[in-house]
Amino acid sequence: MNTFDAIKTRRAIKNFDSSYKMSPEDIKVLQELTILSPTSYNQQNWRFVYVTDQTVKDKISKASRDQAQPRDGSLVIVLCGNLSAWKEEPLRYWRNHPVEKQELVKNSLIRKYENSPESRRDEAMRSCGFAAQTIMLTARQMGLDSCPMVGFEYDELADIIQLPKDHMIVMMVVVGKRLKDAAERGGQLSLDEVFFENHF
Ligand SMILES: Cc1cc2nc3c(=O)[nH]c(=O)nc-3n(C[C@H](O)[C@H](O)[C@H](O)COP(=O)(O)O)c2cc1C
Repeated sequence: MNTFDAIKTRRAIKNFDSSYKMSPEDIKVLQELTILSPTSYNQQNWRFVYVTDQTVKDKISKASRDQAQPRDGSLVIVLCGNLSAWKEEPLRYWRNHPVEKQELVKNSLIRKYENSPESRRDEAMRSCGFAAQTIMLTARQMGLDSCPMVGFEYDELADIIQLPKDHMIVMMVVVGKRLKDAAERGGQLSLDEVFFENHF
């Protein structure tokens, strides 16, 4: 499948085949591709909890107003932001580059995030957004489908995944085998309404 087709055929699937299980090899490929998603300064501030255990998936469905996708999908991925990534041994984010570059990035990270919880949160949102799209397009390439989700009780999900203190949940993506096609698209806005040439 080429990228255009993956983008066009990705839909938020509501009904997954509960008998389908992703292989550990496919899960590993999905993980390896997911971490190639871009992050500002390459700070890799996403953390992913991937849930395969049916008991845990059932709990997540319950915490998601009984939506079926986490229960029936093969894999539930909870995308979280590590709000301390900017200060956790930041030199390693550029370890393949000269030490001057590593120091430069470290200082930039301190400048941008040390005194700004908003920036730390914004960055978590951005990084997880890109990662979510990578997960969903990779799923299509594997002949699988996905559903991005925020319809869950935050505190309940945080409990279930034992969310660390300096982390936040950004969203969930369920991956699995489609049982039923998505309904017709809701209706996209016109290009004219959302694209502006050179300025608003
Ligand atoms: C951040 C986000 C949260 C969403 N949460 C849910 C959800 O909790 N349950 C659900 O069924 N769909 C959820 N969706 C799916 C959207 O409703 C869907 O992406 C949108 O209607 C467009 O449809 P499409 O993805 O099939 O093109 C969510 C999508 C996004 C991007």
